[in-house]
Amino acid sequence: MPTASAPGKFILFGEHAVVYGKPAIAIAIDLRTEVKAERSSSFRLDGRAISEIRSFYIREMVRRWRGGPLSMEIRAHVPPSSGLGSSAALTVSMLGALHSFKSPAEKENIAREAFEVEYTVQGGASPTDTSTSTLGGAVYISEKKEENFRWEIRKNGKSWKVHSLSIPNMSFVVGVTGAHSSTRDMVERVRRVVRRSPFGKDVVDEIGSIVMEGKRALEKGDLVRLGELMNENHELLSLLGVSCTDIERLIRPIKDRVYGAKLTGAGGGGSVIALTDKAEEVRRILEERGKSAYIVNIDKDGLIIK
Ligand code: MEV
Repeated sequence: MPTASAPGKFILFGEHAVVYGKPAIAIAIDLRTEVKAERSSSFRLDGRAISEIRSFYIREMVRRWRGGPLSMEIRAHVPPSSGLGSSAALTVSMLGALHSFKSPAEKENIAREAFEVEYTVQGGASPTDTSTSTLGGAVYISEKKEENFRWEIRKNGKSWKVHSLSIPNMSFVVGVTGAHSSTRDMVERVRRVVRRSPFGKDVVDEIGSIVMEGKRALEKGDLVRLGELMNENHELLSLLGVSCTDIERLIRPIKDRVYGAKLTGAGGGGSVIALTDKAEEVRRILEERGKSAYIVNIDKDGLIIK
């Protein structure tokens, strides 16, 4: 039975602005989703008929699939709707499992198709989440081709160049607020701000500059500057209207124990990411105030098909 698995991710810098073609840096984490698939007389998912499945991502993948009915099982370890790339991990692993019934799947092709699925379901997306889940490790998205270029994804006049990025050893803690948000709604909220005011566009440009400075700080291993930039990126995301009380309630009590902290992903709930060398202490504080908290390790593999 073909089995594929793919990791979740967090965005270190650049969420939302990357939808407008600005750069971003994301890191795949050691929380995975696994999909097993086998031929069947009708489409089934965890024993249920596909008509009972509410996930738009799954419906969209099944709609596109031309290879006959399959029975699939999903084991998801990425918390859902929490800014940690659960939909990308699901989309990439399911496409990996589906493609293994056809020709050997190139990672690049899976990443492209996964992006199209997210774009359709979310009504707009960048390839950050899906390419990070496919490649694993740290991923840098930019307008220009640079060192360790992997592939380019274009859509509606925008071009995102996807690169692998080597980063120093760092300790990150994720705090999950437990408040769920829809990426589609948050992307739409930012779109309204950017369309209506020059201020919105300036904020997006400013986030782009922070990503570039963040990349330089990563290259130097300058954790202090990285933390400051994470805090600045968070302030700018708040100005775009994607932070909320649940997020601020997690950030406040850890401020003096971390290099930096910010919301990660679409916002409006979801998760907070903190860079710290007091990981266990920060994890405990976040867990007391949120739903759950993890000390996350970097996933180096991305999509694995067995
Ligand atoms: C969601 O994890 C990241 C966003 O920038 C959307 C995207 O890039 O597709 C909000």
